Amino acid sequence: MDCNPILWKIAPHTNAKHQILKRYVEAWAPILSQKGYNERLIYIDGFAGPGEYEDGEDGSPIVVLKALKNHSRQGNFKSKFRNLFIEICKERADHLRKVIEDRVEPLPSWIKYEVITNDFNQYIKGLMKYLEDNKLSLAPALTFVDPFGWKDLNYNVLSDLMKFEKGELLITFMAGFLDRFVWDDAHLPSIRKLFSDDQIKEIKKIEKTEDRERQIMEYFLKNLMEMIKSKTKVENIKYLAFSAYNSANRLEYYLIHLTKSRMGFYAMKQAMYKVSHDGSYKFSDFDFDPNQRTLVDYGVEESWIGAASEDAMRYISSLTSQGMKEIAISVIKDHVNYSTYWIYYNSILDKLEKDKKVQVVNCEKRRRGTFPDRCKISMI
Ligand SMILES: C[S@@+](CC[C@H](N)C(=O)[O-])C[C@H]1O[C@@H](n2cnc3c(N)ncnc32)[C@H](O)[C@@H]1O
Repeated sequence: MDCNPILWKIAPHTNAKHQILKRYVEAWAPILSQKGYNERLIYIDGFAGPGEYEDGEDGSPIVVLKALKNHSRQGNFKSKFRNLFIEICKERADHLRKVIEDRVEPLPSWIKYEVITNDFNQYIKGLMKYLEDNKLSLAPALTFVDPFGWKDLNYNVLSDLMKFEKGELLITFMAGFLDRFVWDDAHLPSIRKLFSDDQIKEIKKIEKTEDRERQIMEYFLKNLMEMIKSKTKVENIKYLAFSAYNSANRLEYYLIHLTKSRMGFYAMKQAMYKVSHDGSYKFSDFDFDPNQRTLVDYGVEESWIGAASEDAMRYISSLTSQGMKEIAISVIKDHVNYSTYWIYYNSILDKLEKDKKVQVVNCEKRRRGTFPDRCKISMI
């Protein structure tokens, strides 16, 4: 493992990754810690890095510790947060310890951290063995898997982290490089860690379209999902994928989030949406059933609001046919946010109202184009 240089210049799109991580941790912490069901919550930064970049920007462990330490709702937190920062390079791990001391210490007693100089996969295998030997379960854990390249992505280890009820993964996946390196025999040994020879052949056959990198990412996810399903009975894993492109419009990476939690899915949707909204990023989500895949670029609202309102309309019709003539707007919002690919915006109901498919009822003093929770709608 080459550990030089200790620090490097931040790539422009790393910032997007950090913003998503920050926003998500800000949402994840209160979701899991406020009701007091979870005594401990764990954040694992599997490829932690040195804690800062060459020009002083914060690395991911600092982003997370600051998000927790400065959280506006920390007064309501009932859980303790344990942060495990795993870094294989001793010099980078030492540097990270120092940056934490300088930038975030002192920490309140409910935030603990450990910098572990080890290989991510070895460490997690050891942790799993310990849990198994002692018949223990893993506390809710969000694991950020942010390696250089893909050779350290291990299906077994990743699915072990997902087999627990509240395990979540956030994975950086360099599909763009894979797409280029798949043609180079020198890279085959590392690519074979992710794909069988047959899959590599399939990848090579895909025509040079915009879709190629996404399909590579999907191969990876398909394999990962199969492995997760073989280890856990839980079926309802949802994922979101955020793609960051460089200035030459080449894909830099996918940031993939896997969760079983409706709330987690929604919180990540919001985080990715906010970060993608400046136009330079895209984020998309898919069903795991390859035949029913939906791909959405949320960057431009007009491009998806039509399909989102059709989805909402189907839901409204199904409730109406079950006898519910007037439906609370909050019910529609919940449906859109937690059970569909879309993000709830007034524009969804606005379109249905303008198209004369629904009308707003029981709604005094309402301004046009607004859909307050206290109101209801019915089909026209
Ligand atoms: C892309 S950087 C991580 C950046 C960091 N997550 C951030 O956002 O600031 C990858 C880091 O993983 C470390 N690394 C590489 N292989 C590793 C392994 N097998 N286990 C743990 N760390 C590893 C590298 O030394 C490097 O510091």
